[in-house]
Amino acid sequence: MHSIDEIKRLAGRAAVEKEVKNNQVLGIGSGSTIVYAIQKLAERVKEEKLNIVCIPTSFQGRQLILHNGLPLSGLGTHPELDLAIDGADEVDANLNLIKGSGGCMTQEKIVACNAKRFIIVADYSKDSKNLGDSWQKGIPIEVIPMAYVPVRRSLSQMFGGVVELRMAYRKTGPVVTDNGNYVLDWKFDQVREWKEVNTAIKMIPGVVETGLFINMAERVYFGREDGSVTVRKRPSK
Ligand code: 5RP
Repeated sequence: MHSIDEIKRLAGRAAVEKEVKNNQVLGIGSGSTIVYAIQKLAERVKEEKLNIVCIPTSFQGRQLILHNGLPLSGLGTHPELDLAIDGADEVDANLNLIKGSGGCMTQEKIVACNAKRFIIVADYSKDSKNLGDSWQKGIPIEVIPMAYVPVRRSLSQMFGGVVELRMAYRKTGPVVTDNGNYVLDWKFDQVREWKEVNTAIKMIPGVVETGLFINMAERVYFGREDGSVTVRKRPSK
């Protein structure tokens, strides 16, 4: 019997073991699974004297890079990445993702889009046939604060479902992202053509980014309940 943390650890470590090479610029995602990936990365850098540079996708990622003694950089000096590794809240059969439970999806998407390869590390609970099968907290959407009410109205009118402003824990008021914006969580009521939905949402004035990552991930390292790690590649079209 493996704890969920042990399973996340196995997935994070396996991905870094297999995917990271010397002389790479790496995108470092956010969440709890990525913590284990960074620990493994720090071990490999020390043991193998790897020459790598790390680009964070959040305040958390930046702290993890620094605390693990890894070289920190940014897109200003390293706009082209070899590989980005990140977690996900849900992965569908085509490797489309919902991300943003931690509110970091905007920087995560920017970093992933500028990487030659985008790899996900996740525990088995994230593995779904369709988005929404297991993830019930909705699709996170980062919005400019003054626009959150009109964006919420537009989303409801266009697609139905329930749209909630994400509220902070141990602070009165809304969650404020690393970019100074708010997060709406859209609890959708049906499976859709997510590529088109994503484009439509991005056209609403005030929307900064969505947590829909469509056709981006190349492969996912899933930690399984029995302690094994399986790798799923995106089906070729
Ligand atoms: C943060 C994210 C995370 O990558 C996602 O929530 C997965 O986190 P965890 O590894 O803790 O399950 O998208 O915005």
